[in-house]
Amino acid sequence: MPKTFFITTAIDYTNSPPHIGHAYEKVLADVIARYHRLKGEEVFFLTGVDQHGQKVQQSAAKAGIPPAEFVKDITHKFVDLWKKLDVKYDEWAETTSDRHKKVVQGILRRLFDAGQIYKDKQAGYYSVRQEQFLTDKERGADGQFGAEWGEVEFREEENYYFRLSQYKDWLLSYLDNRKDAVVPDFRQTELRNAVERLSGDLCISRPKSRLDWGIELPFDKNFVTYVWFDALTNYISFAGYDPNANAVATGSPQDESVLDADLRPVGTDRSNESLRTAHRAVATSEFDAQPQEFRDKWPALQIIGKDVLVPAHGIYWLIMLRAIGFPDDQMPQLLDHGWWNLGGAKMSKSAGNVVDPFALAEKYGAEAVRYYLMSDIATGKDADFSEERLVERYNADLANSLGNLLNRSLNMIEKYCGSRLKRDAEFENAATIGPRDAQVNPSVVAKTAAESVIEAFENATIHTALYFVQVIVINANGYVDRAAPWKLAKDPTEGAKLDVVLYSLAESLRIIAILISPVLPKAAHGIFDQLNWKMELSGKEERFLLADAEWGKLPDGHVVGKPVPLFPRFES
Ligand code: MSP
Repeated sequence: MPKTFFITTAIDYTNSPPHIGHAYEKVLADVIARYHRLKGEEVFFLTGVDQHGQKVQQSAAKAGIPPAEFVKDITHKFVDLWKKLDVKYDEWAETTSDRHKKVVQGILRRLFDAGQIYKDKQAGYYSVRQEQFLTDKERGADGQFGAEWGEVEFREEENYYFRLSQYKDWLLSYLDNRKDAVVPDFRQTELRNAVERLSGDLCISRPKSRLDWGIELPFDKNFVTYVWFDALTNYISFAGYDPNANAVATGSPQDESVLDADLRPVGTDRSNESLRTAHRAVATSEFDAQPQEFRDKWPALQIIGKDVLVPAHGIYWLIMLRAIGFPDDQMPQLLDHGWWNLGGAKMSKSAGNVVDPFALAEKYGAEAVRYYLMSDIATGKDADFSEERLVERYNADLANSLGNLLNRSLNMIEKYCGSRLKRDAEFENAATIGPRDAQVNPSVVAKTAAESVIEAFENATIHTALYFVQVIVINANGYVDRAAPWKLAKDPTEGAKLDVVLYSLAESLRIIAILISPVLPKAAHGIFDQLNWKMELSGKEERFLLADAEWGKLPDGHVVGKPVPLFPRFES
């Protein structure tokens, strides 16, 4: 059976409603998922919400309602947004669900029993306001902790730690052996440099006395797990992973300084020798013991933002997977996208500069928002959000360029040949508009540009894919102007040439609709409807197949439908 294409996104915190950055990531994943469905692949697209943690507990307390109620409300907002933006996922992850809790606790239990998790005391400076331990990184230039941390006191606290640093050498060698572990490659370099600096183990708990909105540790009811063992595990808990079907692996311990407040130096005497011996064998069969349902999908392509690569996904997640027995060839690939900023600054609710995706979709429609988010940012890089640019791009690429091509083509087909296309493939090849037009012949351009579109989708560079779709559109519009069907229609000796021109326009539009369908599913259906193509599949995804993006599929005698304006212009 061919392998399922498995794609995930980061799960969004439910401490506040979604903004345009969240929408970007989910639309990006949706476009990639749709592209793979277009190729005829089985796709499993997982997304969801991160419902536990301190931020959520604090926001709920501020709103004066219990956290469970608070997250329900915010979760609805995310679900509604994905519906509105046509983000079509196959599974929805909510970290408060029982299914997820069981997997998280199962993994923690196994790692604890294997000596990979231990209890220890942490002593350090603690911000009462932010409820976290601080490291030297948080000190200002004057060596003091800034006002944002409020009252800072020295504290001692017991917590549980995961033996993260034992896996440093493994992670370095994994990254050296797999050059595309992280895309784009400059992010992999960034990650590798961070791993070089890695030392210390990871604090994975909080005493319930200061945080109780979380998953209880299965071996100590006075603690909840915090935060990454809960959040990251969603990628496997909602895909059929069984924590009881495998054992635990281990590496060799390291020591040194710390990466963040949840990382701590490792002592030399804590690793239990007998446990280490027991778990020295990293058996790939531990992974093979997983249910078929899970192995059919895994590994995933994981779409995440640049802020959660180091250390969360690039270090903690890969090491967690290694620790529960995933071999190197079952490590996920991380696609790390950039950020949408506003006026050059990071969007943040507290600064009051977030863009509301609901309001945008309400004003311009989902397709305009999707098109803008996919065309005006290079995957991996940052971009500045601008409503003016959204209107500009939509008017230029869709209203003026594609909409115009669709409308004028169908009008002419109706007017000059009663909507019935004629095809003479032999004459089509011979009857270019003139010798200089060979390179702008729509069939040639559609073929070469389609290859570039496909290559761009394969590389997740959606902005480039859309650029090459525009190449076909712009060329076809130029072809109309040069071929001037209105003149050919007046000359009875040019009938065959007129047929070729009209057929070429309809065929170009059909191919454009297929290629643009991952980004603009509704508009693609609109074009197919107007071309009267595969009407029995109207509205269904199966209507589009990449294999159909091949010149000459519209049969001789095909009757097209009536032109209906598809992309009304926005007034800027
Ligand atoms: N809950 C964690 C992730 C856990 S994944 C197991 C989290 N949540 S978040 O809501 O803060 O961010 C979710 C995703 O949205 C992240 O990948 C983040 O990079 C992305 N974005 C948040 N703001 C963004 C922009 N302004 N622009 C683009 N993406 C942004 O982190």
